[in-house]
Amino acid sequence: MKLFLDTANIEQIRQAWDWGILDGVTTNPFHIANTGRKAMDVYQEILDIVDGPISLECVTLTAPEIVEEGRALAKLHKNVVVKVPLMKEGLKAVKIFAKEGIKTNVTVTFSPLQALLAAKCGATYISPFVGRLDAAGHFGMELVKQIKTIYTNYGFETQLLAAAMRHPTHVLESALAGADVCTMAFDIMEQMYKHPMTDIVIEQFLNDWARVPK
Ligand code: E4P
Repeated sequence: MKLFLDTANIEQIRQAWDWGILDGVTTNPFHIANTGRKAMDVYQEILDIVDGPISLECVTLTAPEIVEEGRALAKLHKNVVVKVPLMKEGLKAVKIFAKEGIKTNVTVTFSPLQALLAAKCGATYISPFVGRLDAAGHFGMELVKQIKTIYTNYGFETQLLAAAMRHPTHVLESALAGADVCTMAFDIMEQMYKHPMTDIVIEQFLNDWARVPK
């Protein structure tokens, strides 16, 4: 499973890239707004750091506008993935992008039927928002499993990108469900390294080594 960071925080992206386990980045308007910087400046910096798929989100609502916006974003770098919201106009644009060889990440997905439509239009990635479904009283991970089944049933090539992770267990469940990608906050990625038993056993071994004659 590929691991993406869901952030526009440059320092966090640099750190995770340095760890050697980062495969890509997803951004959204919330993350960009939090930087307090111009979007294009932030995009360029992320593209310079990470050699992997970088999702940049469209903020227009009609297919012609989304196509224009997406084409401009795609021109920034070969690694750009145009993030398009799941709606009729968005999927019309996705179909055009697919014909032009522009990669897309269809976002704000909350149902398996929406994911079926996105795949039919040639989406490169589909992003189900697991944590937001959990917060609304649903079993968000069920959506990931259902999309996986549908895509497997019909051999769709659209990659399942589990999004809106809220804790490491979401990442674990995504991996068990066969998600192709999981995008997460920096703290969740960092927690994946950790286990209290690991710390205890490392300390024990270091103490053992101290007893070895030098
Ligand atoms: C994914 O690509 C989105 O940017 C992100 O995961 C949205 O989730 P959240 O805003 O609920 O965290």
